[in-house]
Amino acid sequence: SLQTATLHVRTNSPIGNLSPRLYGHFAEHLGRCCYDGLWVGPDSEIPNTDGFRNDVLSALRELPVPLLRWPGGCYADHYHWRDGIGPERMTRLGISCGLQVSDTNALGTDEFLRLCELIGAEPYLAGNVGSGTVQELCDWLEYCNGAADTSLTRERAANGRAEPWNVRLWGVGNESWDCGGRFAPETYAHEYRRYASMLRHVDPTAELVMVGLEDEGCFQAGMDREWNRKALETLGWSLPLVDHLSIHHYWTHGGPETDFSEEEYYALIQEAEATEGNITRTADVIARVTGGRQRIGIALDEWGVWHPEARPWGPGEGTARREPITYEQANTLRDALAAGAMLEVLHRQCRVLSMANLAQIVNVLQAVVLTKGTQAIHTPTYHVLALHKPHIRAEALPVKVSGGERLPDGSPAVTATASRNAEGFAVTLLNRHISRPAFVRLPFAEPSVRQAHLLTADQPNAQNTFEEPDRVSPVPLEVGRERDGTWGVHLPRHSLATVVFAAG
Ligand code: AHR
Repeated sequence: SLQTATLHVRTNSPIGNLSPRLYGHFAEHLGRCCYDGLWVGPDSEIPNTDGFRNDVLSALRELPVPLLRWPGGCYADHYHWRDGIGPERMTRLGISCGLQVSDTNALGTDEFLRLCELIGAEPYLAGNVGSGTVQELCDWLEYCNGAADTSLTRERAANGRAEPWNVRLWGVGNESWDCGGRFAPETYAHEYRRYASMLRHVDPTAELVMVGLEDEGCFQAGMDREWNRKALETLGWSLPLVDHLSIHHYWTHGGPETDFSEEEYYALIQEAEATEGNITRTADVIARVTGGRQRIGIALDEWGVWHPEARPWGPGEGTARREPITYEQANTLRDALAAGAMLEVLHRQCRVLSMANLAQIVNVLQAVVLTKGTQAIHTPTYHVLALHKPHIRAEALPVKVSGGERLPDGSPAVTATASRNAEGFAVTLLNRHISRPAFVRLPFAEPSVRQAHLLTADQPNAQNTFEEPDRVSPVPLEVGRERDGTWGVHLPRHSLATVVFAAG
């Protein structure tokens, strides 16, 4: 039977601005994400622009992708940027997450930064601390951003780019508590201080990202629960060297990727929502250590679902791991709705978050685009992000939904997020209930609806395949006018919808 709910929006107390950086993505040299997914090379038969597949470029341009992190991930701490510039490339052992590949380095710095230009993304480069040196990272920064006439900037010019690339965001290591070198927080902080001081000399405007840790799975595995506090405290008066503190969070408790039970359906969405706790706990530590005197943004620079079929570690007992591990997994409507729940979190926490990056962009993990041969398709997660487009750069507004059903954990079935910009209000509604549709009253007095779209499917495990690429894709949604001049929508079970009202 139908649930009835009402959306309440507090228009007079905005939460904050929805920076495009909250809609970031992550491309690692892992499996078929970069090679094959993004890069096919200029000589490929697959239509491409400067080596990047045209179908993927247009999908990403359209999404949009405001921010893109590269080249890892764990890969970053084995990556030596000089291997990937100029006419002679080193073929290296590419290492990440237990995979070892022969890496031609055909996709290197200039190619990646060109990709960012092609899709309109801000680049975010992850530096090598685990197996690199301070000088190596300083040189990379100089190569990318240097304006003075030096051998490195001449080399950049010889490689086709006379003007600086002006890359603002630089990661100092990745997961340095594990794959990035298994540092203790204090030791990493000492390293960070050295890297950051020297990087700032090369480019004082670089924004530096320090490695943090806030993940129960990692704590259970024995990593330091106090990493964030210890690492930040060790910096002492050098704290201003930190612009962003990175945390990663993957959802791993939702059971199998497609054959999940009702209980597992809810478990995944709840896990996505629980990421809010990771963010607020990190924000509390930052506030305590800085005494509120310095802004350090939280960079949630890897987030998303990681299904048991696609990972070589637990939990996921009883689920068949796909061998060999390619880090590719199904992407169903359930995953997309979990992303929708996560985007609500990002909106609520936009004051403390400085960026967020979905892992990963093509083929790997919770990808938005999948490729096979000459074909590229959009996943359900792609469509949820696309339905969020009207929120980007808008002002997030606090919302409450009254009425509606409760889910097994007591949380509301119908949730929402809302924002405002000069053109009007945008509302994204989520009906998490697996079996009950909802009618939601939208008490806006705006005279007209600019656009309204719905994403759903007959089953929560529906996915887009190369045979049926549009099984889960947005359709126009009817928004009804109530007698009192306000609005209302019918949301099917397990669905997400965006309604944009034109400013009155
Ligand atoms: O995204 C896959 C891996 O997950 C990344 O390489 C690493 O940073 C994280 O553990």
